[in-house]
Amino acid sequence: MGQPTARRPWLVGVSGASGSPYARAVLTGLLDAALPVDLVVSRAARLAILDETGVAFRDAHWRDDLAGWLRRDIGPDDVMHWPAGDLAAAVSSGSYPTRGMIVVPASTAAVAGIAAGLSKDLLQRAADVTLKERRALVVVPRETPYTRATLQHLLALHEAGATVLPATPACYAGAESVQQLVDFVAGKILDVLGVEHDLFQRWAGQLGAARHGGSAAGRTAEPGPAR
Ligand SMILES: Cc1cc2nc3c(=O)[nH]c(=O)nc-3n(C[C@H](O)[C@H](O)[C@H](O)COP(=O)(O)O)c2cc1C
Repeated sequence: MGQPTARRPWLVGVSGASGSPYARAVLTGLLDAALPVDLVVSRAARLAILDETGVAFRDAHWRDDLAGWLRRDIGPDDVMHWPAGDLAAAVSSGSYPTRGMIVVPASTAAVAGIAAGLSKDLLQRAADVTLKERRALVVVPRETPYTRATLQHLLALHEAGATVLPATPACYAGAESVQQLVDFVAGKILDVLGVEHDLFQRWAGQLGAARHGGSAAGRTAEPGPAR
């Protein structure tokens, strides 16, 4: 009898920036693609999630709270949650196999901490591990305008091998709702990870095609107005 295939999750770190819908769309996209996810939600992220969704994300009830936030059932092997204060968690070690990590949304504090290697909590430590192991790291900053310090931290992350992918939706994909703009950013993140999705309509070289040829078919999209 062969060994069961080792679980190799994408690690999603949610930090305390505005933009919980981006995290929700990425988590949904990974789960829709039947990819396992490990999850770290920083303490400040809980405030942003509560503010933006009304969901109180609690360590002791994370599965129910996550199911409420994502509005879907979470299977036993789908998601593994690690408390942000648990510096002994598996994801704090490079010996724990992951495909890589997405920090979405990334606060300027998380950007600074990861760029400087502070590891002040599990999210930052796991990102540091991802860099040292030369695995894929996608950082999705959400702040505007940027300070000089944040710009320098983002450049440091880029130079360290991370993909800096700002939460910057484009309008060329025919979006008609906020959710479609969110799905555009989530789709760009999944593109970097090599995860298939149909979260937005791709540019096909024809001006106005998105307006004439139908809107982006995002799976998490709410229906837009009739054309
Ligand atoms: C509701 C709320 C929204 C916030 N939005 C942002 C934001 O968009 N960008 C940002 O860099 N910080 C934002 N902050 C501040 C961060 O949460 C704060 O800097 C925190 O220390 C980040 O910690 P973390 O990186 O450990 O999550 C926000 C805070 C709250 C409470």
